[in-house]
Amino acid sequence: MPTPTEYLKHTSVIIITGGSSGIGCSIIKAIKKLVPTATVCNLSRSKPGVFFDQHVIHIATDLSDSKAVAAAAEQLNIIIAGAEAGEILLINNSGFGDYGRQQDLDRAKQLQMIDLNVRAVVDLTAHLLPQMLERGGCVVNVTSTAGFQPTAYLATYGATKAFVLNWTLALGEDLRGTKVRTLAVCPGPTRSNFFKSAGFETPPMQEGASWTPDMTSELVADLTLLALAKGKSLLVTGWRNQLIAFFGSKFPIMVVTRVGAAILRKMRLETHQGNSK
Ligand SMILES: NC(=O)c1ccc[n+]([C@@H]2O[C@H](COP(=O)([O-])OP(=O)(O)OC[C@H]3O[C@@H](n4cnc5c(N)ncnc54)[C@H](OP(=O)(O)O)[C@@H]3O)[C@@H](O)[C@H]2O)c1
Repeated sequence: MPTPTEYLKHTSVIIITGGSSGIGCSIIKAIKKLVPTATVCNLSRSKPGVFFDQHVIHIATDLSDSKAVAAAAEQLNIIIAGAEAGEILLINNSGFGDYGRQQDLDRAKQLQMIDLNVRAVVDLTAHLLPQMLERGGCVVNVTSTAGFQPTAYLATYGATKAFVLNWTLALGEDLRGTKVRTLAVCPGPTRSNFFKSAGFETPPMQEGASWTPDMTSELVADLTLLALAKGKSLLVTGWRNQLIAFFGSKFPIMVVTRVGAAILRKMRLETHQGNSK
């Protein structure tokens, strides 16, 4: 079994979305630490600040805009065509959530979330797959433990992650026998900008809630590279998240929906808005 460094040395181009912060940023840092000369193309709206060198190419892209996805894919296909022989690693990581009761949330933001978390993942993968099939590689999709069960108060977000989880696993089967495989990465609560952009006034892991299985984005990045090197198809980060994912998929769906709703309600609505029902 190759080490993460050995695996990365077999790649010629690494494409990641959402490398400007959080998990994506930590994945780029981890790659650069192991293989400083790795060619990494980052797609996000803002430029990753640190670690910039001539091997990191930033393509400023709003992935919720399908025309921007097509334009970025065109640039990426040119970069891949001109690259040395080697596998292509595509990491679809960009995403955001929006916390609250569905009826209180902004309609446009929900649709933008679907465009980013779902449409862009399918679209970018489809654009790059022909060259990946020729060269070999892996499609890594960052989904979430939220994808294992319905998530009230994060209804649209959880459903986008369920889509990506199922789509990634099914795509892996479709690709069986080819040179391309897939890896679905399911982090649980991870310290990043995610909670702020999702509308949590305070990240749940900083409220002294010691039961939360939270992790650093650096640990999620290291686990992802290890799972890649091991050839895994599914990574649920950490045993506590694995336990949550197990119960989420094994118990009757109405039970996990209600229990999940009670937990998520506690995370903000009760503590910050005082409007629990
Ligand atoms: N943190 C958690 O607890 C957690 C748990 C499970 C799964 N996840 C998943 O992990 C992934 C990374 O999230 P994170 O925790 O690292 O959060 P984060 O720090 O908020 O990072 C989100 C990334 O997505 C990019 N992004 C957002 N909107 C975009 C757009 N319209 N076009 C292109 N890129 C866009 C952001 O870049 P720009 O703003 O520069 O565009 C940023 O780099 C997400 O898919 C998230 O759902 C996170």
